[in-house]
Amino acid sequence: MELASPSFPLSGRRIVLGITGSIAAYKSATLARELKRRGAQVRVVMTAGATEFITPLTMATLIDRPVHSDFTEDEHAGVWTNHVELGIWGDLIVVAPATANTLAAMVHGQCENLLQAVLLSARCPVAVAPAMDLDMFTHASTQDNLRVLEERGVDIVDPGTGPLASGLVGKGRMAEPEDIADRVEAHFQKTLPWSGKQVLITAGPTHEPLDAVRFLGNRSSGKMGFALASAFADQGALVTLVVGPVNLPTPERVHRRIDISTAVDMNEAVQSCWASMDFGVACAAVSDFRPAQTSDIKWHRADMPETIALKENPDILRGMGQSKTDAQRLVGFALETDEGLDSAKAKLARKNLDAIVLNTLQDDGAGFAVDTNKVTVLDASGRTVEFDLQAKDELAQKLVDLWRTTLIP
Ligand code: PMT
Repeated sequence: MELASPSFPLSGRRIVLGITGSIAAYKSATLARELKRRGAQVRVVMTAGATEFITPLTMATLIDRPVHSDFTEDEHAGVWTNHVELGIWGDLIVVAPATANTLAAMVHGQCENLLQAVLLSARCPVAVAPAMDLDMFTHASTQDNLRVLEERGVDIVDPGTGPLASGLVGKGRMAEPEDIADRVEAHFQKTLPWSGKQVLITAGPTHEPLDAVRFLGNRSSGKMGFALASAFADQGALVTLVVGPVNLPTPERVHRRIDISTAVDMNEAVQSCWASMDFGVACAAVSDFRPAQTSDIKWHRADMPETIALKENPDILRGMGQSKTDAQRLVGFALETDEGLDSAKAKLARKNLDAIVLNTLQDDGAGFAVDTNKVTVLDASGRTVEFDLQAKDELAQKLVDLWRTTLIP
């Protein structure tokens, strides 16, 4: 059994870093590097003023891609910068440093440079880290502007107090890059639907050894379980993935991965953490039986027993259902070869589940190994939701949304 190290907290998050014309722009280099170090994808939009304090080349080198500072990329060729695309691309826009001028432009919806156009077309949340001199910061106009922006949902990362470029001492220094990066991280943790929820997912097959080289197993690839792990992590859940032998990389942001081989190992791993979970999804294809006897060496043809006695494996999901508290929610999967509705309903009740996801090998493109699935979700209140054949990734997102609205109080 092995634990994978936690992944980068911002991995896969898309952040547009807006830089405006303040001496604090030199700190934006550290901020960009810090966001990248934590796993984020970063694009940089600089105002003309910002380029006087720090070069686009510095920023481009740090983020490994060109920065944007103009409405056109190549004026003569008619290549323009798609500010709308940039605004839609980002999961979050951070303007750091944000000058008094840019804050005022944001309040009034001005569109005089590329960054302002991106801010005006953005669909994602925006954070600003103001940086300016003491008197500009305390001026009633700036304070009013900050209040308006805050009322509109902009996250204001308060400036610090200390010596300022003017020689004055007071409030106006841009927050430190590490603190801004912490705030970005906190933003993703608190604003997502599954934030703060601990989710346990089992995935993949189990391998039950017969001898040193053979095993009883099944064709589960782990794809469905991994798609769910990824979708839960995307929605802010702290995901623990207990996984049988599969050949898949850990999805981004999954908190913990426990690799096991047999059903007994999987049961042990699940038992060790289920009590501290809010939600469980058993997607693994667990072998119900294991060979009663195994051999440490390879059986040769002459040594092969004529019959192989089997022993029952623990029903992991049933154990979870038996110890489930009122606060926990538990979902199982049912893999059937016929229509399967009655069998799925029986499993829902027998294993004390809140919902069950039925997939049947009768449906082309559903079940093992393929990239798609077609499922029907039945829940304990009698509700039935059918999902058409679709990519497991897409389906996983829909299931996670469904459970957020139907199973979480
Ligand atoms: O991994 P993929 O290739 O993407 O394929 C996905 C899948 C087909 C494996 C998945 O969608 C699926 O259906 N998983 C459950 C497979 C299965 O074992 O179904 P079952 O009907 O035999 O078991 C019912 C439930 O009890 C399942 O949640 C299973 O995890 C659980 N179980 C079963 C036996 C056992 N000993 N312990 C268990 O916990």
